[in-house]
Amino acid sequence: MILQKLCLLGLFSPVAVRSLLTPPNALNLEITTNITHEIPSTLYGYMWEDINHSGDGGLYAELLQNRAFQGVIPGTQNALNAWQAHNGARLSVTSKTEGVSSALPNSLQVQIPKVVFGPVGFENTGYWGLKVQEGWTYNGSFYVKSDTYTGSITVSLKSSRGTVFASQTLTGVSNAWVKLTFQLTPTVSAANDDNVFSVILDGGAAAGQTLYFGMFSLFPPTFKGRENGMRIDLAEAMAATNPTVWRFPGGNNLEGLSFDTRWKWNETIGPLENRPGRVGDWSYPNTDGLGLLEYLNWAEDLGAEPILGVWSGISTANYSDLADWPIVPEADLQPYVEDVLNEIEFIVGNKSTKWGKVRASLGREEPYSLRFIEVGNEDQFQEDSYAAYRWSAFVNAISAEYPEMEFLATSFPSLALNPPYKRIDFHQYDSASFFETNAFFFDTYPRNGTKWFVGEYAVTSTNESNPLGLITQGRLQYPSLAGSTAEAAFMTGMERNSDVVFASAYAPSLQHIRNYQWTPDIISFDASRMVRSTSYYVQQMFSSNRGTHVLTTNPPSDSTSVPLYWVASYNNETEVVFLKVSNTGTDDLVGNIVLDFSTPGFATAISLGTPALSPISELFNISNTIDEPDQVIPVASSFSFQDPTRFNYTFPATSITVLAMQSLNFNNSG
Ligand code: AHR
Repeated sequence: MILQKLCLLGLFSPVAVRSLLTPPNALNLEITTNITHEIPSTLYGYMWEDINHSGDGGLYAELLQNRAFQGVIPGTQNALNAWQAHNGARLSVTSKTEGVSSALPNSLQVQIPKVVFGPVGFENTGYWGLKVQEGWTYNGSFYVKSDTYTGSITVSLKSSRGTVFASQTLTGVSNAWVKLTFQLTPTVSAANDDNVFSVILDGGAAAGQTLYFGMFSLFPPTFKGRENGMRIDLAEAMAATNPTVWRFPGGNNLEGLSFDTRWKWNETIGPLENRPGRVGDWSYPNTDGLGLLEYLNWAEDLGAEPILGVWSGISTANYSDLADWPIVPEADLQPYVEDVLNEIEFIVGNKSTKWGKVRASLGREEPYSLRFIEVGNEDQFQEDSYAAYRWSAFVNAISAEYPEMEFLATSFPSLALNPPYKRIDFHQYDSASFFETNAFFFDTYPRNGTKWFVGEYAVTSTNESNPLGLITQGRLQYPSLAGSTAEAAFMTGMERNSDVVFASAYAPSLQHIRNYQWTPDIISFDASRMVRSTSYYVQQMFSSNRGTHVLTTNPPSDSTSVPLYWVASYNNETEVVFLKVSNTGTDDLVGNIVLDFSTPGFATAISLGTPALSPISELFNISNTIDEPDQVIPVASSFSFQDPTRFNYTFPATSITVLAMQSLNFNNSG
């Protein structure tokens, strides 16, 4: 759906001019103690939106899909998505009876035939399966009412073939909504994900009866034990990349397919029963169980600074015609500006303010810290109205109340905005050669005070002539090693120029392998498994080995003929010097490394790669996949050398390496 707009991207251009300074397969490389600039703490992080079931069915640990029948049309078969009858019960989604709350008008009507033999009820199949883990306690709940049925209800986790792993029998059904809660603790793990959450009625008593159910929930243990929290393995994997920025809630999913279905912050807070959910941009309903507070708490858990995307008066209704996207006319924009002011007050206002008080009432008295506001998403596609009034309306109003806020524009960098933008988020999805070629793009970027967030980027395709088509020949299913080395080459450029690039994020983040809209993604998963891609490991290697300052090297990275790309940095707290290197070629390359400081005579290396294959096109086929997750994983080693100021290191073909050297006498010469 995004094909046409992405085809318009093309900001970067080839700027690398490489001269022959060294023999083709060896490089003399001096790491100096000359500091060029400080590296911003925000350099590496995540861009987040609910796409590919990254949130619902992914990071958000809720196990039951379509738990509250949000964003569906009552009476249709689709409304029953993920629900199935057991033994002849008749299911339909209805809004004819009052729902569990005004936000959740739909409920599940369950009609039991007059004649039933054996247990009768219904099941939820989860997000393409359910993980059943021995010893985990699953916390569950649902609402139920019936004018006539007062019998018991047995809930269980069981395999689709009927093996019961845990169950509990509940009572208390009456003619008014009642919330029943339960805990299920399996004593044995299921062999696979082919399991269901089952709700069974007392067959004899239920015959001929009608019951209504609403707002189900079933949570396994969560990351840091947070209620309504995150799936542990995915959360741990994301946290392990040491991200320091968190841009949310989109992406296109911020924008909505219509004004009314935009991401509305105030409908994502408070009790889950008060969250109506919405039809997201990526073809599935969003529960909004992961709401504004959950995102802010998660960013705090990660130690990541939030970049808050705010709706800028545009929706992505019609992907086949960008010019046809609905835009709020200037005269009608003010209510949306005020809505954003309220959102910011909710986040940063003290508890005596109207919205700060609401936040406090939801359990968070202390304001969150927020510095960055991103106005819209990819507004280069509708830049006339952005330049004419949308950007200024939001920036002027917000800075009048919050002068400390810093704003990110999302237009083409060349577009003149008033007030002028100082930070910009620009995105790039392209081929490996594109990223390799543009590894030096920022080296010559004018130092005019503008700071960049490379807020979405990835090698998406092997197809040079059409690298951006979503489902076209050459589109990568998973990140590939060849693509990841190219991304790493580009990242050396971002880090080397981090006086200009203040933040970056590979995108998208997560992908449910059974239902997705975009490839490739940094982490893929199903109901129980997860795979860290080669691009994941690159992000982790760069982000976890951070210097505080960039160092110059001789020669500079853009002056050799060999396909090596590098950046050197110094961490002034640990006194460690890092050299990050991507070898995008098919030959091993030897570096004769000379240091302008002394070391204890050893260094450590983390390397991601695999023996070179020929032909080069095969390199695109090397990926970590859900079935083969560990094809390429980082390998750590250490090595010693006699002269504490020099050593040789072989950078393997098609690999990424981070060398770390303890400096003993670092003396800034810059
Ligand atoms: O990352 C997927 C999509 O790509 C984002 O929603 C959008 O910002 C970009 O076009």
